[in-house]
Amino acid sequence: MPTIAIGGTKLHYHDVGSGPPTICLVHGSGGTGAVWMRQMEGLADVARVVAPDLPGHGESSGDGLDGIEHGATVVRALLDALDVRTVVIGGHSMGGGVAQAFALAYPDRVAGLILVGTGARLRVLPEVFERLERDYEAGVRYLTRMAVADAAPSELVDSLAAQAARTAPSVHARDFRACNAFDVLARIGAIRVPTLAIVGSEDRLTPPKYARFFEEHIAGTRLVVVDGAGHYVQVEQPDATTGAIREFLATLPRST
Ligand code: COA
Repeated sequence: MPTIAIGGTKLHYHDVGSGPPTICLVHGSGGTGAVWMRQMEGLADVARVVAPDLPGHGESSGDGLDGIEHGATVVRALLDALDVRTVVIGGHSMGGGVAQAFALAYPDRVAGLILVGTGARLRVLPEVFERLERDYEAGVRYLTRMAVADAAPSELVDSLAAQAARTAPSVHARDFRACNAFDVLARIGAIRVPTLAIVGSEDRLTPPKYARFFEEHIAGTRLVVVDGAGHYVQVEQPDATTGAIREFLATLPRST
């Protein structure tokens, strides 16, 4: 997998398929680009898909994010380095915050926006911070259980929790602090690009109400509620998620 130097950070990223369009998919708190594995497999024939490990996550160096906007500047630097001018930017949870911040900061670079299990405000339950501080592994497991539908198989919870527990506790805590401070509820209407919002009907962390807010405030948003999925909709129901993205891409101008 390729690595690129951005400032003092060695940024690792997945890069599959060929564009245009180029889609950049950003992972959530405590995650890595691998959370998009099934979407990379399912989209590579119609797009170039770039999925970074944000600083301090996965194989990338660094101490984590200073805030959601920091994530947007990292993504911009990665796309600059790859010579990608126009992108379909997407993200899950915290990564969806990064995608919104990117769309607000660099509107001329965005051909489309994909918001997966996320919101324009991402307040975090105080209990999440407390549990992660008290007993990191148990806290991660609790959080992961909350982040999937009740019907999700225990092997899925195990693999997601094991992956998240590999993230340094300090990086994970910074992610949640970044989410907690994120609030673009009042600015979201300024986004004027084609937008797809995907949410699991059982999402407890960023409930369908948050996705409906996008539908109501970003003109022309396509909303897809995936029945029976939780917060990790793209992992719990990968085909439904990938299918929705493929349909969305087909609506974008060919030059994208
Ligand atoms: N989109 C639309 N509406 C939103 C929103 C979003 N992204 N975020 C909050 N709101 C709404 C809430 O539904 C609430 O509406 P209401 O007054 O009609 O009930 C209002 O804005 C205020 O909510 P909130 O900002 O969340 O503050 P709170 O003090 O009521 O609740 C929490 C704080 C942490 C309990 C709550 O945000 C929560 O349960 N969050 C989800 C769990 C979590 O930790 N998620 C992790 C996200 S990374």
